[in-house]
Amino acid sequence: MTLLPIHRAGNDFAPAIARAAAVLRGGGLVAFPTETVYGLGADATNARAVARLFEVKERPHFDPLIVHLGAANWLERCVTDAPPEARRLAERFWPGPLTLVLPKRETIPDLVTSGLPTVAVRVPSHPVAHALIGALDRPLAAPSANRFGRLSPTTAQAVAEDLGERIELVLDAGPTTHGIESTIVAFGDQGPRLLRPGPITPEQLRDCLGCDVPVVGKASPTPEAPGMLERHYAPRTPLRLLEGAPPAETRRVACLAFRAAPAGAFAAVEVLSPSGDLREAAANLFAALRRLDMAGAEWIVAEPVPENGLGVAIMDRLRRAAERTA
Ligand code: TXA
Ligand code: MG
Repeated sequence: MTLLPIHRAGNDFAPAIARAAAVLRGGGLVAFPTETVYGLGADATNARAVARLFEVKERPHFDPLIVHLGAANWLERCVTDAPPEARRLAERFWPGPLTLVLPKRETIPDLVTSGLPTVAVRVPSHPVAHALIGALDRPLAAPSANRFGRLSPTTAQAVAEDLGERIELVLDAGPTTHGIESTIVAFGDQGPRLLRPGPITPEQLRDCLGCDVPVVGKASPTPEAPGMLERHYAPRTPLRLLEGAPPAETRRVACLAFRAAPAGAFAAVEVLSPSGDLREAAANLFAALRRLDMAGAEWIVAEPVPENGLGVAIMDRLRRAAERTA
């Protein structure tokens, strides 16, 4: 695996992009930064490349991928139809951390969508992602660049630790901005539904559409977001949400705190945002969890964050991690 550093400030990163696009065109895999987390890219129109992507991630075939586009006007290449609400959201939030699930065209192999009649698409805003997709000039299938069930990577180093020699190339442009995966919205007979909370908050969706976008709960019998029902985003150390007072015995416990470390001699502590800024907390979340996971503690205790704005997405990830490791 080659780690190619990209210095965004004033530096010409065209040669690195050209090399990465050539790898993708040849059916290879390239990890690259987006504004949310690092993605592992494969040419979405090449079923063999996509098959390798599933293999490298050890991802089950029932968990469909997100397809990344160069611009909103690429939609026609991948989807047959987009309702007015989808177009309104795309106009407002693309390029950016919003994924829309829409009826797929046959140009997208069934492997990408796990056989579903719909495809998840988004236009990333990260300049490196944007340049890479532009150079490839094809839709780019890219899940988060981690092994299945692990934490999404927010740095190139995290990608290298998780996938290392299994992939050809990692484009390293430093830590990602949002730190959590994109918001996913699907459209059905009852209108838009929120499949995964993310950087575009429920409040922002409501402001744009003029109505609440209901959350698809786990109670729903047919999984509408297949990967959602898999408990994702988990460290290896068991994680519990802190309810009430911190545990009495803390020496073998690692603590994920929101604004300030609670009292106690914890094995390790990470504070997500001393100023209580949910944006900062989201950006730090996965890297902090990775560090706590390495602290050799028996378990991790996570302090809840306020559940508004970005806090909805942060609590979604923490609850999933807690379920998976319970
Ligand atoms: O921010 C992100 O979205 C990152 C970056 C790399 O773009 N990507 C990402 O991909 O988080 P991934 O593979 O980790 O999550 C994809 C999830 C699936 O697990 C599933 O929940 C949902 O997207 N999804 C994909 N296609 C779908 C479809 N046709 N219907 C419903 N849900 C779908
Ligand atoms: Mg993922």
